[in-house]
Amino acid sequence: MSARLLDGRAVAAELRAEVAAGVEELGRAGARAPGLAAMLVGNDPASAVYVRNKARACEEVGIRSRTLELPAAASESELLALLDRLNEDPEVDGILVQLPLPPGLAADRCLARVRPDKDVDGFHPENVGRLWLGQPGFAPATPGGILELLRHCKIPLQGRHAVIVGRSAIVGKPLAALLLAAHATVTLCHSRTAGLEEHCRRADLLVAAIGRPGFFGPEHVQPGAVVIDVGINRIADPELLERLFPGDAKRRAGFESRGWALAGDVDFHRVAPRVAAITPVPGGVGPLTVAMLLVNTLTACRRRLGLPVPAAAAP
Ligand code: GUN
Repeated sequence: MSARLLDGRAVAAELRAEVAAGVEELGRAGARAPGLAAMLVGNDPASAVYVRNKARACEEVGIRSRTLELPAAASESELLALLDRLNEDPEVDGILVQLPLPPGLAADRCLARVRPDKDVDGFHPENVGRLWLGQPGFAPATPGGILELLRHCKIPLQGRHAVIVGRSAIVGKPLAALLLAAHATVTLCHSRTAGLEEHCRRADLLVAAIGRPGFFGPEHVQPGAVVIDVGINRIADPELLERLFPGDAKRRAGFESRGWALAGDVDFHRVAPRVAAITPVPGGVGPLTVAMLLVNTLTACRRRLGLPVPAAAAP
């Protein structure tokens, strides 16, 4: 069996083009462009890269973005005061607080301060509740992107058994809600699940979101399953690189110049021959996360302007 590659870059490009068209349509109707405010606290290099990528993606589709940087030593009250200002700012449709926050700052209190109708990350408790209740709100970008990928690739979900491995509030839990709403039967596993392999082998759709490079091997998949790899792991061990990507000259060249390479949670080389479809890393789920943030920001703007929102954009 040779697996079909689920191309996240192509689907993300389509979504970005749809958002760009939506922003243009607002402009033609005389409305202002959507606005996103991103808060970056401290100096985590990966977070700085993510926020920069999000800002660039906004610019490309005509969303006005601003990044508000605070030092790692900022107090919680400073952060909350800034969020209050953004909550009241009529030019800001979407607010995101890049996670993780530096130690000493309570992410849950900060996320709960974002106005739910500007919470384009879908992390506010009200939006979490709305997602589980099937009410309009915002779904987090990564699970929302996975649903878009499955929809674009016409992977059927109704009545299928989806097994998610990973129970984070950013991926596993909201994805369970979205897959249930799409009429899949969902098993939510995690690192301490007993009999994990057997659970995974019963999956029609296996979602790997455990954060361990190459953890899922052929023993975790049912022949013909669809596999979604959410892992984005930097590996710096040359032996692990060779085990996971034997003979992959391109990945090795990148590894040699940067000192690391990206690997998903799935041992792609050994799993792909057994399954019907699989997402690559990079180029699978990752590009959809940024694209969905743009979709959510346009949705927030349209709602604020009292305009209808396409059904696919709203959970
Ligand atoms: N950190 C890791 N993933 C995310 C995300 O989707 N949004 C935010 N704000 N921070 C993150």
